[in-house]
Amino acid sequence: MSDNFYKVQDKKYLMFNAKGFVEKSLEEIKSIVRDNKVVSACSGGVDSTTVTALVHKAIGQNLLAVFIDDGLRREGEPEFVVNILKSLGINTRFVDAKKEFLDTLKGKTDAEDKRKAFRDKFYKTLGRVLKEEGIKYLAQGTIAADIKETVQGIKTQHNVLEQIGIDPETYGYNIIEPLKELYKPEVRMVARELELPKEISERMPFPGPALSIRVLGEVTSEKIDILKKATKIVEEETKGIEAFQRFAVLHSDKATGIKQGKRLYGNIITVRVVKSRDAITAKAMEIPYEMLNKISKKITEEIPSVVRCLYDITDKPPATIEFE
Ligand code: XMP
Repeated sequence: MSDNFYKVQDKKYLMFNAKGFVEKSLEEIKSIVRDNKVVSACSGGVDSTTVTALVHKAIGQNLLAVFIDDGLRREGEPEFVVNILKSLGINTRFVDAKKEFLDTLKGKTDAEDKRKAFRDKFYKTLGRVLKEEGIKYLAQGTIAADIKETVQGIKTQHNVLEQIGIDPETYGYNIIEPLKELYKPEVRMVARELELPKEISERMPFPGPALSIRVLGEVTSEKIDILKKATKIVEEETKGIEAFQRFAVLHSDKATGIKQGKRLYGNIITVRVVKSRDAITAKAMEIPYEMLNKISKKITEEIPSVVRCLYDITDKPPATIEFE
C-alpha cells in the first residue's frame, strides 16, 4: 500500500499531534500504574499493538503482553504476532484457548449472542491470566469508534465494558485505555511516532471477535477452516488495491452448484472490499471484473464445499462493514 494513500486518508487528522499525545500518555500511564505490573491484551491489530508498545515505552519490563489464540485468527497470524512482539523486546505470553472459544460459540447463531459470548470468554481468559500472574492492571486498545458504536447500540464491541455500565472489577481488574479518544488514523499516527514496523502501523483493521463474526450463524472448526482459505485468497488477489478492508464472509445458508459433473448443495462466500477513513462510513469499492472473476474461480476451485461466490456492493450505511 502506498504511503501517499494514508497521507491522503489522514488529512482530516493533520491537527493531531502524535508526539505530544505520546509524551502525555507516557506520563499518565506511569502515574496510574507506578511500580505495578500491567498486562496488555495484544491481538496484533493496529490498536492493541500500539497500546502495547506505548505501555512498554512507559514501564518497560513491567509489561506483559498476552496473545490469546482463540483459533479465530487468519492463517499464520498467531506466529506473526508473537514474532513482532518478541522483536520489539516485549515480554510475551501465548495462551492457547482455541477449544474454549469454540466451545463457548457452540450452538450460538445470533450475531449479538456470539459477540457477547466472545467478549465474556475473552475477559474470563484474561482474568485467569491476570490472576495467575498476580497482575491487577490491564491495558487495552479501545478506540473512540468502538465506544461510539457500542454505546449507540449498533454493535457490541468486545472491548468496551465501562462505557456501557459493566464494572471491570466484576472481572477483577483495572483497565487502562490510552487510545479511547482517538480514531483509527490518529492511532496509525501514534504507531508511526512509536516507530512500529509498517506491517503494524499500516495494517488493515481486523475485528476483535475475528473470524467468528465472518462465519455467519453457528461457528464450527470446519467453517473456520473454509473461511481461513477464502480469506487468504481474497487478501492475496486484492493486495494491489488500496482498500480499508478486504475480506471474505461465509454464509450460513447454502446454494445449489455443480462440482465434478454432480449437483452439490454447497457453501456461499461473499467478498467485501471497502474504502473508509475511520470505519464510521465506508464505500464498497469498484474493483476490476477480471479480479473478481479470478477470486471466484480460485475460491470455488480450491475449496471443495464452496459453489458460489458473491461480491458485496453495499456502502456503510445502510450496511455495516462486517456482516454481523
Ligand atoms: P462495522 O462492521 O461496525 O465495523 O462497520 C467497523 C469497524 O470495526 C471493526 N469491528 C470490530 N473491531 N471489535 C473490534 O475490535 C469488534 O467487535 C468489531 N466489530 C467490527 C470492523 O472490522 C471495522 O473495521
